Amino acid sequence: MSPIKILVFLGSVRTSRMVERLRKFIETLIENHNMQPVIIDPLTLAQSAIELNRTPLHFFADPESDAPTWMKDLNEGIRRASGFLILSSEYNCGIPPALTNLLNTFPPWSYRHRPVGIITYSTGNFGAVRVLSVLRPYLTELGMIVVPAYATIPMIQETLDEDGNVIRNGFELKNIDTVLEEVRWYAKAIKTFNVNHPLPS
Ligand SMILES: Cc1cc2nc3c(=O)[nH]c(=O)nc-3n(C[C@H](O)[C@H](O)[C@H](O)COP(=O)(O)O)c2cc1C
Repeated sequence: MSPIKILVFLGSVRTSRMVERLRKFIETLIENHNMQPVIIDPLTLAQSAIELNRTPLHFFADPESDAPTWMKDLNEGIRRASGFLILSSEYNCGIPPALTNLLNTFPPWSYRHRPVGIITYSTGNFGAVRVLSVLRPYLTELGMIVVPAYATIPMIQETLDEDGNVIRNGFELKNIDTVLEEVRWYAKAIKTFNVNHPLPS
């Protein structure tokens, strides 16, 4: 069976963003769970940030000839991924716009029928737990299967250092292992099932 490729969506383009710490921490961990991480970073992705906001791929009259190459390539990457992981903070109780801009650029049928794990973090005491309840229906609307486990990391600046090393371990980091195991389990199950029951394209 081909490797279980997990697309990891970063939810921030902010200067000195904390998501960098989580990205560095999670990359090795995903490999330890026998999956292949592919980081999708809204900061470096679009040639121009405007491209992420103006026209979603499925709103071009003829996406094949009119859409930017990076958009078509990433769409193909999304379609071929075995699963997804969302690294998100909470901005005023909502989903950071960098994340919605990125995900909304692609049609729901590119994401559908693949598992997604959610890991939220904040510099405060609650680990952005409120955004979880917003992310779940949003990701479902995009066609992903939200796995039951989730992880929230409060006080991320005191939990992971700038290189992604653990400063202070707590039960919240163990929950990340559970999220990754669930994503892997669903991804494998869907891949296996799909061999005999392929989805219509
Ligand atoms: C515009 C804005 C709104 C925020 N709102 C919340 C919030 O509602 N809840 C929370 O726990 N933290 C909130 N924070 C603090 C974030 O937890 C913290 O800045 C975190 O580092 C953001 O992630 P990032 O650094 O990867 O962008 C907010 C931060 C910003 C910039």
